[in-house]
Amino acid sequence: MGKRLKMATIGGGSSYTPELVEGLIKRYHELPVGELWLVDIPEGKEKLEIVGALAKRMVEKAGVPIEIHLTLDRRRALEGADFVTTQFRVGGLEARAKDERIPLKYGVIGQETNGPGGLFKGLRTIPVILDIIRDMEELCPDAWLINFTNPAGMVTEAVLRYTKQEKVVGLCNVPIGMRMGVAKLLGVDADRVHIDFAGLNHMVFGLHVYLDGVRVTEKVIDLLAHPDRSGVTMKNIVDLGWEPDFLKGLKVLPCPYHRYYYQTDKMLAEELEAAKTKGTRAEVVQQLEKELFELYKDPNLAIKPPQLEQRGGAYYSDAACSLISSIYNDKRDIQPVNTRNNGAIASIPPESAVEVNCVITKDGPKPIAVGDLPVAVRGLVQQIKSFERVAAEAAVTGDYQTALVAMTINPLVPSDTIAKQMLDEMLEAHKEHLPQFFNFPPKEVSYF
Ligand code: G6P
Repeated sequence: MGKRLKMATIGGGSSYTPELVEGLIKRYHELPVGELWLVDIPEGKEKLEIVGALAKRMVEKAGVPIEIHLTLDRRRALEGADFVTTQFRVGGLEARAKDERIPLKYGVIGQETNGPGGLFKGLRTIPVILDIIRDMEELCPDAWLINFTNPAGMVTEAVLRYTKQEKVVGLCNVPIGMRMGVAKLLGVDADRVHIDFAGLNHMVFGLHVYLDGVRVTEKVIDLLAHPDRSGVTMKNIVDLGWEPDFLKGLKVLPCPYHRYYYQTDKMLAEELEAAKTKGTRAEVVQQLEKELFELYKDPNLAIKPPQLEQRGGAYYSDAACSLISSIYNDKRDIQPVNTRNNGAIASIPPESAVEVNCVITKDGPKPIAVGDLPVAVRGLVQQIKSFERVAAEAAVTGDYQTALVAMTINPLVPSDTIAKQMLDEMLEAHKEHLPQFFNFPPKEVSYF
């Protein structure tokens, strides 16, 4: 085993951190992380201390020599790091609740990563990511950045287009969730299932599904279309079933987030109902988080509690740690990640970020070419890519008109006028986290 690795996790006070620590413990034999630096901002100090103490108990119980460091000093954590992971949420869950509630007033889907909510999460997040990359260039120029912060596709797009950071991978648990869902439908272990993933983050399709190497796409679609069978969904997205003939006609496996596009009216009705009763997803998650942190405080707890699986991002550690291990060990296995397209999906610009199966090497992900996407889904994917590109430009420049164009071209937004009304209200509501829109004149796009 070579040198022991240093890893820095920004947003280390997140309730998801025990997942990550569990993933590192499980893989210590192949991924010798010697130091894990959990970083947060002063507002996150209490959470950082609680989750950090649990992380320390977890490694101690597991008997692995991973030193856990807790800090509010990002630069110190980044210095000499080999891997940097980002899992922060600018403005916390309060900001997410605004992203979910404001669009509903206009009869528009309010969602963390889709539509107006996704746009605003991107506008808040991208400048912070670019700032982290500036620090990385100085303090750990050889490190890999593994980003989980949403909207992961838009964030990866911004990093690829507006920085020189080539060692970046965007990661999501949707593909792993789909694979587990398909395995459940088929009644088999997930490791017997392989899916050819292609598309964008939260807009990814399973083009083909294989069981033990044999193509079973049609069978899986039939099972998924059956009114009594759902399965391929996630904790944070209600499962309203699919029109069987639609799915069979589509011939590819949609991801759970496609419900917002193919079932917009029904999803909106669900959201409006939830907003009146149990609360929006952010509000539900606020409660879940309180309960999780109460559990984390227990000095006798030294494992990841199963309750964490109630979060939509469950199992992301498996995706994250296996990605990091495959880079470190040059495993050349296949994993779906967000990376530069480089021609893998013919219908998407080569320089843009896509979510696609890749061979994971020590030089990073090598995307596997799929050619064109099927015509039935190609247009939507291209439109979302245009939205992500314009949104990333708005996030970097702070230009109002660019942000309005991004908002209007999103397929969940009905008109330019409603787009403008939502944009104005959301800019005001998130003002403190959007300095780029309130410092005049707007910054030039900075390619550095
Ligand atoms: C998913 C997505 C993640 C997202 C999470 C939200 O499954 O893939 O990108 O962060 O759900 O879950 P939450 O429990 O916060 O609603």
